Amino acid sequence: MSILQRVITCPICHLPLAEVPQRCDTCLDYFRNELEKAPSSLIDLTPDAVQRQIEGNAAETKPLRTELFRSPIISFFYERILPPIWAMGLRNLGGIDVEFQQCTEFFGEDPEIVVDISCGTGIMARRLALLGKYEQIIALDYSESMLAQLQQQMKLDGISPSQITIIRGDVEALPLASDSVDAIYAGAAMHCWPNAEAGIRNIYQVLRKGGKLFATTFLKPLPSIVFRFFTVDELRQILLTTGFHLDHVQVEAHGLYGIIRCVK
Ligand SMILES: C[S@@+](CC[C@H](N)C(=O)[O-])C[C@H]1O[C@@H](n2cnc3c(N)ncnc32)[C@H](O)[C@@H]1O
Repeated sequence: MSILQRVITCPICHLPLAEVPQRCDTCLDYFRNELEKAPSSLIDLTPDAVQRQIEGNAAETKPLRTELFRSPIISFFYERILPPIWAMGLRNLGGIDVEFQQCTEFFGEDPEIVVDISCGTGIMARRLALLGKYEQIIALDYSESMLAQLQQQMKLDGISPSQITIIRGDVEALPLASDSVDAIYAGAAMHCWPNAEAGIRNIYQVLRKGGKLFATTFLKPLPSIVFRFFTVDELRQILLTTGFHLDHVQVEAHGLYGIIRCVK
């Protein structure tokens, strides 16, 4: 069984490909057909897409802080505008390059399967792929337009589709097997999720024992009008109540930027 057949699951029945469709009477062939599209095109494993295909349900609407990123305009400008602003200190002094260094140092030499959750345009997933150190990189995001930008950027960076498996997915219904992933990066993401507690709980679930989470988000006193910002204590509380052990949780504030390092 390939890594992907082992790791990727149906978001409805949570079974990996090898077991579908024998025990799965909800998602029928949808999941199998989607998986056959990989790696040349993205696969849509949001529960919403599966239900819509099978039952013709209306599309689900998420809170604005999630839906915002589905706009092609936001997706187009996201990486064209933000990186120099981040580098001035909003997102670490030095921006995404410093974050890449911190993240890969934390992941260490071990990881085979690395998932960039809420990857957006793949600003980190592409760097991880170019590093050439990991066996399997999966980039997952809810926004199809962010993922379209990722695909375009991969072509420009000379990254082949086989180097990054792209999934449209929801952190609240991760289409990944329990205890299967070695390392997860979730950059500048938690404040955009509909429910950060549910997202972290699912991340804990899919990490294998000893697996690592490197996550970043923005902090209060930024006002939670559209996004949900956190204090360091709130972040720590979320991590502890979703399964991580006190000894393996580190949350740092760098100005308005929170950096999380956890080991399951
Ligand atoms: C601020 S962007 C961060 C993108 C990238 N990780 C980075 O470091 O720049 C937040 C991302 O979270 C994604 N997102 C929001 N809600 C999500 C959900 N429920 N499941 C998965 N991704 C989600 C958005 O689509 C968006 O791409």
